[in-house]
Amino acid sequence: KKLMIAASCALAMLTSGAHADERNLRIAFDVPYEPFEYKDENGDLTGFEVDLAAAMCEEMKADCEFVIQAWDGMIPGLLARKFDLIMSSMSITPERAERVLFSEPYYNTPGGWFGPDSFNADVTDVSAMKGKTVGVQRGTTMDTFVTEEMSGVVTIKRYTTADDMVLDLEGQRLDVVFVDYPVGEQTVLSKDGFKEVGEAVKLGEGVGVAMRKRDKDVAEEVNKALRKLKEDGTYDAIMKKYFAY
Ligand code: ARG
Repeated sequence: KKLMIAASCALAMLTSGAHADERNLRIAFDVPYEPFEYKDENGDLTGFEVDLAAAMCEEMKADCEFVIQAWDGMIPGLLARKFDLIMSSMSITPERAERVLFSEPYYNTPGGWFGPDSFNADVTDVSAMKGKTVGVQRGTTMDTFVTEEMSGVVTIKRYTTADDMVLDLEGQRLDVVFVDYPVGEQTVLSKDGFKEVGEAVKLGEGVGVAMRKRDKDVAEEVNKALRKLKEDGTYDAIMKKYFAY
């Protein structure tokens, strides 16, 4: 038994560190989540976090592989070593921080409410929302918020992907969606007949890269790289590319 533990520790050291110059990292994205991560017309993975991840990998001199992972399997997949980092607009929350290690925040996004022009309820007044159908992506901070604040008052529809949710809003199967603000801005407000229908809600302490708790050395390098990219203007340039509207 003791021997096995020693062996697995040695293995862990081998896989999680030692040679800082050529690290192999697999980074997970849930797509589409425009403008953070989505596929362009050629089917290539693109977006704010995809570019940021690429710049970060270059800075860390890491050999990175980008993988697609459905949102509801993100943390389980990370813990099962299917990949090493999550860069999927994951908000930093105390509950998640019990299971994963977060980098310093590299972005901030509140949850936004978006609905058709005809929507006339006040989303902050829970009783006025009675009978409405609200769409959220399952397992997100928006899901947690409506589940805690509006259960029993509204009908909550939970979606595996953000684009299915937006399709249902367009098809009038939902009255309103609650989604990370920039995603609503780009995928809902960009269409005719929709508007923001309530005040955005701050959820989580920014967005961070999520890693396994034991990968402290990776986290240190990630933080160092992110700081460097902010200092040298790379971060701002990527930001401009995806958020200039
Ligand atoms: N920021 C929200 C959260 O942490 C939603 C993120 C969903 N990300 C995605 N790529 N689908 O719960």
